[in-house]
Amino acid sequence: MLELKNVTCGYGTFEAVHELSLTLQPGTITALLGANGAGKSSTLMCIAGHIRLHGGSILFDGRDISALPPPDRVRLGLAISPEGRRLFKDLSVEDNLRVGGLIRPRSDYPGDREQVLSLFPRLRERLGSLAGNLSGGEQQMLAIGRALMTRPKLIMIDELSLGLMPKVIDLCYQALQKLREDGMTILLVEQNTDRALSVADQVCVLESGRTVWQGSAEDAARDPDLASAYLGLH
Ligand SMILES: Nc1ncnc2c1ncn2[C@@H]1O[C@H](COP(=O)(O)OP(=O)(O)OP(=O)(O)O)[C@@H](O)[C@H]1O
Ligand SMILES: [Mg+2]
Repeated sequence: MLELKNVTCGYGTFEAVHELSLTLQPGTITALLGANGAGKSSTLMCIAGHIRLHGGSILFDGRDISALPPPDRVRLGLAISPEGRRLFKDLSVEDNLRVGGLIRPRSDYPGDREQVLSLFPRLRERLGSLAGNLSGGEQQMLAIGRALMTRPKLIMIDELSLGLMPKVIDLCYQALQKLREDGMTILLVEQNTDRALSVADQVCVLESGRTVWQGSAEDAARDPDLASAYLGLH
């Protein structure tokens, strides 16, 4: 459903991601892993259209979206929960969800809101609170919820578990699994490698912008070189 072909992107003349090729199958979770500065966030921002492609192409449902501006990509079904979450901190939880749903017909709002609130019941209790006053975990749920309000086919989530308590991480991962059961395609960026490998179907590891490993999560878990060389395990 999403196909990256030799994607190269960066900032000015600096290449943050070099010739990345990656295909996401519908209804699967792909974990994009790598150390700080490997190019994970840049990859997501490039897919979302926030940083320019220097080379290669991005196909979404068979259509070349490489030149489309970000809002058009959202309309096609591509959503991002970005690094740092970028919530509207001075708006309530409800209004953050409303902003997410702005690209949808107004009549979709109540049903879509209900779906997000049943996925993250904690948000229901905080609907009137300012996003800036939420706990880290609640903010993460809201960032994902706001992205879901666009009714995406693909959701990209940057640093799902960063800074969250183990119990909240469990809730977020349960939500991901529910979304996948409903057919959602997920591209997940994680520092928490063990956790990502435990749910992922497919894994891609970047190092200094280059793809150093790609394959099934099962193979990733079995590959001792991968674990020690790139993922800092053992
Ligand atoms: N706005 C920017 N301007 C210039 N260089 C940038 C910018 N954002 C990121 N970079 C550089 O691009 C490279 C990849 O950064 P990126 O943020 O994609 O890595 P990452 O894998 O997400 O790292 P982290 O785990 O720390 O979030 C790094 O060398 C970084 O310094
Ligand atoms: Mg990052």
